[in-house]
Amino acid sequence: MNPPTPLTQTPAWRALAAHRDETGERPMSALFAADPARFERFSVRAAGLFLDYSKNRIDDRGMALLAALARERGLEAARAAMFGGQRINNTEDRAVLHVALRNRGDAPLEVDGADVMPAVRDVLRRMGAFAEAVREGRWRGHTGEAITDIVNIGIGGSDLGPAMACQALAAHGHPRLAMHFVSNIDGDHLAGVLARVKPATTLFIVASKTFTTVETMTNAASARAWFLAGGAAEADVAKHFVAVSTNAQRVAAFGIDPANMFGFWDWVGGRYSMWSAVGLPIALYVGRDGFDALLDGACAMDRHFAEAPPERNMPVILGLLGVWYRGFFGSASVSVAPYAQALARLPAYLQQLEMESNGKSVTRDGRPVDTPACPVIWGEPGTNGQHAFFQLLHQGTDLIPVDFIAPLTASHGLADHHRLLLANCIAQSKALMVGRTAGEVRAELSAAGLAGEALEALVPHRVFPGNRPSNTLLLPDLSPRSLGALVALYEHKVFVQSVIWDINAFDQWGVELGKQIAARIGAELAGGAPGVHDGSTLGLIAAVRAAS
Ligand code: F6P
Repeated sequence: MNPPTPLTQTPAWRALAAHRDETGERPMSALFAADPARFERFSVRAAGLFLDYSKNRIDDRGMALLAALARERGLEAARAAMFGGQRINNTEDRAVLHVALRNRGDAPLEVDGADVMPAVRDVLRRMGAFAEAVREGRWRGHTGEAITDIVNIGIGGSDLGPAMACQALAAHGHPRLAMHFVSNIDGDHLAGVLARVKPATTLFIVASKTFTTVETMTNAASARAWFLAGGAAEADVAKHFVAVSTNAQRVAAFGIDPANMFGFWDWVGGRYSMWSAVGLPIALYVGRDGFDALLDGACAMDRHFAEAPPERNMPVILGLLGVWYRGFFGSASVSVAPYAQALARLPAYLQQLEMESNGKSVTRDGRPVDTPACPVIWGEPGTNGQHAFFQLLHQGTDLIPVDFIAPLTASHGLADHHRLLLANCIAQSKALMVGRTAGEVRAELSAAGLAGEALEALVPHRVFPGNRPSNTLLLPDLSPRSLGALVALYEHKVFVQSVIWDINAFDQWGVELGKQIAARIGAELAGGAPGVHDGSTLGLIAAVRAAS
């Protein structure tokens, strides 16, 4: 897996650097003018999705050099190692096999010579049976009433995937079930949800891969206390609390019946886990068939990723274009703009997926990464973002590539709204690309009656530099299948980039230090012996103590 040569010293990287010097400032509009078939050639279909990447500062030779870079960095071997169940998470000595969770064929997938598929299918069967029992009202609370509210208690990978997906798939959700997600240790989060639900008709899912995460354990303990305070007995907990974890011992120690536990495995990373039992809220909300369709969509993208050559491979193309802008244009961030209100949590989901995976500065064998790596991922749904931060995308000092994501059809029945939404999506990518020249601004202002100094003073403010790149990703709809393909696409994009940068995308040591210090400060705030700290930390602790 380890490419022996630092990235910037590879022939492909050097060739790309020279190519950027030669062509990087060429206007994209000129590329379109020179090639009437550019849209057809710089677009790709996979797993029902359509990616238009023609509005990028790249030509045929640039794409060929990027594909050469992927080959030189061993992408094909790395991909085979992942699908082959090898321990590619080298710092934790673990396989990385979330693709097994949506392996819909009969093919075995092995870790250490053992096929993981029977266990995967078994959990999936149990999840499906449980979800249908709740949905059909056969699983009842301790007073005999059907469940009306599902509260998922988890954080990070045990929250963002199901929370994002349940919001995205609300049009497919069960009408009796209201979904709630509690993640923050801030008591406002749990208290706000508990104020809206009744103990007798609420099902809590405590989701934690490790079952040690402070936020989740604290929220789960408070939720159980609230449930019991409502008049239920200890024995009733089994009807209202289920667990999702890899840690059966801790689940039992917490007091949840292991019969009500849905397991997964250490080869499923938290941020890659929505396909596992962590997806239980999704299965409850959209049903067994809906969850199967989500897995089907992801599986279709997996097959495409595994089989298509780099030049026609959607995740590879997305990943390589990201590397191109990060490495050669200084783009320190990427904006994700879903033109679908239901995808409002997608940027947050992708923040964890991308930044917890590749937000690192050492290579797999511990050397410094010798190029800028993972950019900041941020965004909001369009059209809202247009009235907030798009100003900076169009006229700010940084080059920020944008991923526009839009479903072609909507289920809300307000056809005019959807047409306008899509018009805005297309208009924004065009405006970013074509910009507006000083000559065009002058013509517009003089047509509006301005002249002389008054006109000239306005020109620089109204010029759009243009030539700002974007991808546009079209989904046929916002269905479970399309969503599965979309999320798998980004997972593989992240993997591709990790291979180019030679980063282990599957550990997250960077979250540990703050957790350890918080535990010590927590003990001090609770009255424990004061620790040794810098002046700022001491001052802040004193301020909190003084207020409590
Ligand atoms: O602190 C980061 C993290 O470890 C994430 O990687 C993970 O998704 C999240 O915490 C939650 O972890 P767990 O599922 O073990 O509670």
